[in-house]
Amino acid sequence: MAETEAVRSLALKYFNPENIDSVNIFNNRAIITLINIPEDTAKADSLKKEILQLEGVSKASVVFTAVKSDENDHHWKIRGVKKIIAVASGKGGVGKSTTAVNIALALKRLGQSVALFDADIYGPSVPTMLNYEGATPMSKDGVTFEPFEVMGLQTMSIGTLVDRNTPLIWRGPKACGALQQLLSDVNWSNVDVMVIDMPPGTGDIQITLSQQVRINGAVIISTPQDIALIDAVKGVNMFKAVNVPILGIVENMSYHVCEQCGHKEYIFGEHGAEDTAAKIGVDFLGGVPLNIKIRSHADAGTPIVEAEPDGEFAKAYISIAANIIKKLN
Ligand SMILES: Nc1ncnc2c1ncn2[C@@H]1O[C@H](COP(=O)(O)OP(=O)(O)OP(=O)(O)O)[C@@H](O)[C@H]1O
Ligand SMILES: [Mg+2]
Repeated sequence: MAETEAVRSLALKYFNPENIDSVNIFNNRAIITLINIPEDTAKADSLKKEILQLEGVSKASVVFTAVKSDENDHHWKIRGVKKIIAVASGKGGVGKSTTAVNIALALKRLGQSVALFDADIYGPSVPTMLNYEGATPMSKDGVTFEPFEVMGLQTMSIGTLVDRNTPLIWRGPKACGALQQLLSDVNWSNVDVMVIDMPPGTGDIQITLSQQVRINGAVIISTPQDIALIDAVKGVNMFKAVNVPILGIVENMSYHVCEQCGHKEYIFGEHGAEDTAAKIGVDFLGGVPLNIKIRSHADAGTPIVEAEPDGEFAKAYISIAANIIKKLN
């Protein structure tokens, strides 16, 4: 399109070609997406003025997306986000998402400004747990998305971009590209800590994402069984291999409290994750009991930390969150 080309040549007066990610016109609005340079509002404003002189263009947006933090650091920094923690597990089904959501809410209770990003392309479940299932992300400029604001968290899920009933067949690079793009295309605002619910496992996607995005620490979720712990160790080793600091291990479904008599039952054995953490030299951040309320509240879209903030289960998550903050600083 002639207008698009005209906009591009104007953009080239102000920015280097390698920093111009895309030029689009959408509803008479010119949208220039810049990449890998720090925000420069003065230049952006001059460019916008010139663009508005063009025929067929009535609005202009200049968007600065992901930026590399410095010359020696190839990681992407996410605009508006100070620190990022990855909640991960060596294998699926150990309660990673439930724990991630409740840890995010617990961090918020401790006074942090928190974002929760659902990167689990295999089974994005954050929209269900935070009750925005089926909602479409809102965009003010046709380029970037507004995060959902739920229970005091800013949140976005890869699940909002994919159909839940269609299995996701993206392979490594494509999935990573989509994740990274969504991460940096959201207008996160003043986030102290972002919690990422990672896809389970230790494959390509987890590794690439950990290399592309600067992750300040990883929290590994495990259940207490030996088999799960072997996978947890794999998870720890993967993050170590890509130089992501390990904040520690959380044991989920540590024990069951009998609703009738209050008796604590260590169904899968006692101190499994704690012993494993000690053995491999990482911190044990705390344990969360197995309880039907934790499941039912998450399924119903109001996780336990929000539903019963003063209860014993919320306390377990808040204690873990406090340990995470200590380790992060
Ligand atoms: N501490 C707990 N007590 C009771 N139920 C729990 C607990 N933690 C998780 N669950 C339940 O276990 C199931 C699996 O949890 P969740 O979806 O969080 O696991 P996941 O590791 O994210 O799984 P996936 O690999 O499928 O993403 C869910 O039904 C959840 O409600
Ligand atoms: Mg999950």
